[in-house]
Amino acid sequence: MTIEQFIPTNLNTNANGGAVTWSSPSNIALVKYWGKKEHQIPENQSISFTLNTCKTITKLSYSKKETSNNNFSFKVFLDGDHKEDFEPKIKTFFERIEPYLPFLKAYHFKIETENTFPHSSGIASSASGMSALAMCLMSIEKELNPEVSDEYFIKKGSFLARLGSGSACRSIEGDLVVWGKHNDIEGSSDLFGVKYPYQVHDNFKNYQDTILLVDKGEKQVSSTVGHNLMHGHPFAQERFKQAEKNITKLKTILACGDLEAFIALVESEALTLHAMMMTSMPYFILMKPNTLEIINKIWSFRKQSGLHISFTLDAGANVHILYPENEAEAILEFIKTELVAYCQNGHYICDRIGFGAKKL
Ligand code: DP6
Repeated sequence: MTIEQFIPTNLNTNANGGAVTWSSPSNIALVKYWGKKEHQIPENQSISFTLNTCKTITKLSYSKKETSNNNFSFKVFLDGDHKEDFEPKIKTFFERIEPYLPFLKAYHFKIETENTFPHSSGIASSASGMSALAMCLMSIEKELNPEVSDEYFIKKGSFLARLGSGSACRSIEGDLVVWGKHNDIEGSSDLFGVKYPYQVHDNFKNYQDTILLVDKGEKQVSSTVGHNLMHGHPFAQERFKQAEKNITKLKTILACGDLEAFIALVESEALTLHAMMMTSMPYFILMKPNTLEIINKIWSFRKQSGLHISFTLDAGANVHILYPENEAEAILEFIKTELVAYCQNGHYICDRIGFGAKKL
């Protein structure tokens, strides 16, 4: 598919208005996206588990402007409170997507959003938030042109979400999503995420993700700044090649159910992501002392118990603990007795693989 195919030609903007609501989950990358080109095109391919419990629910109301003008008109509410500080990000998003949604300036929008996880939990809400908003906008496009196909709807939803926040393009479907053109993944694209198209071993069905909230504060360096520091980074080209190879390796692992190989690959990806941050110029560290305490505890528990517990990290201090469903009881017990003490206010969230965005 080409970008031009996402420019609609057949929209009827006579509709006076309406409201649509979508819920969309967060996702956790196994092979990480870190580094991008212009227009939110990733430097390397990534693959993620879609989550189930951590999600954003967004209601988008739209009403025809009485007099047309050349401005975007919208208001954003989080949990019922007007959030002016969210509006510059949404304005940038609208500017980026307007060529693909030419009706944006014809309507006034009210964006009412809520998250199932606490706003200040340190969990990135951009993936779930941007994907929920993108799907709401696709529902409006469909109202203005009922001929939009299901395939186009999903692909364009992911395409628009990507322009809001790269990783958001992986939240539309589940249970595994690949973003970035890769020779070993049929249908993959730099423009949108695609559902992983191959057989996955039962070991990975309903895989669990318990998120330990180590630090709920604002991140010192945003992902967008971090991605930009990959330009001219001394290890960037090797890292991009490694991510590509890791997707090929993961394909074999997912097919044969090799949990040990999965653990090695996923933990190495997490630490490599943070190594890229530490070797940027300027350099930075997003892990906290408790992040390392947790990692060490996981390693010793794994050695002593033989259970398939592993961790991954996103661009922050929180730890995602990944494990198969049939080992959940013992691992959850270990988390509660040994790891919760390292979480801020003892806070953690039990999540698992999910299946993407839903219209409510
Ligand atoms: C470390 O999607 O948050 O979570 O595109 O600038 O919004 P922007 O960045 P973002 O980057 C997430 C990077 C990551 C790894 C990943 O999810 O693949």
